[in-house]
Amino acid sequence: MRSIFLVVVVLFFSCNSNKTEESCEKPNEEFQMYEVSEMAALMEQMYVENTRLKERIEKKDTLGQFPTYFLNIEKAKFTKGKERDTFFNEQTQLFLKAQSEIYTAKDTKAAYNAMVDQCIACHEVKCGGPIMRIKKLYIK
Ligand code: HEC
Repeated sequence: MRSIFLVVVVLFFSCNSNKTEESCEKPNEEFQMYEVSEMAALMEQMYVENTRLKERIEKKDTLGQFPTYFLNIEKAKFTKGKERDTFFNEQTQLFLKAQSEIYTAKDTKAAYNAMVDQCIACHEVKCGGPIMRIKKLYIK
């Protein structure tokens, strides 16, 4: 049951489901099987990880450490048709820096929200579909 739910969520929120976003458009074949790329799967994990981090910050709980598997963003494979470019690589470094600073920052909330800004900065150019969902990560 849980896995079925996950697949539905992934399909629904996938970049590829947003037809208005040119950079995330799906190949034309309508009933093509949709395979989740390494990058898309990693992004989903980062989303979950940061949802938990948000809850810990809100409860003033201990934060733990920078999740080193996030570094896989430097080499994970994309959905067919997408490629790594200079913009992606630069944004990756800014994002990883912002994420790593949360755990030692004086103002944890500000550092956390700056990390969410970095998710969105890359998505505005690379993959508009999930932006509304990413915005839910902000701590108000
Ligand atoms: C350096 C650019 C970049 C950064 C930073 C980035 N993303 Fe992404 N994200 C992408 C790209 C490109 C894809 C599409 C990957 C693919 O289709 O293979 C994607 C896909 C996604 C997806 C959709 C996955 C799916 O099911 O298809 C979600 C959700 C997502 N990102 C959330 C996040 C969150 C949350 C953050 C910050 C914690 C983040 N992203 C940071 C570029 C980025």
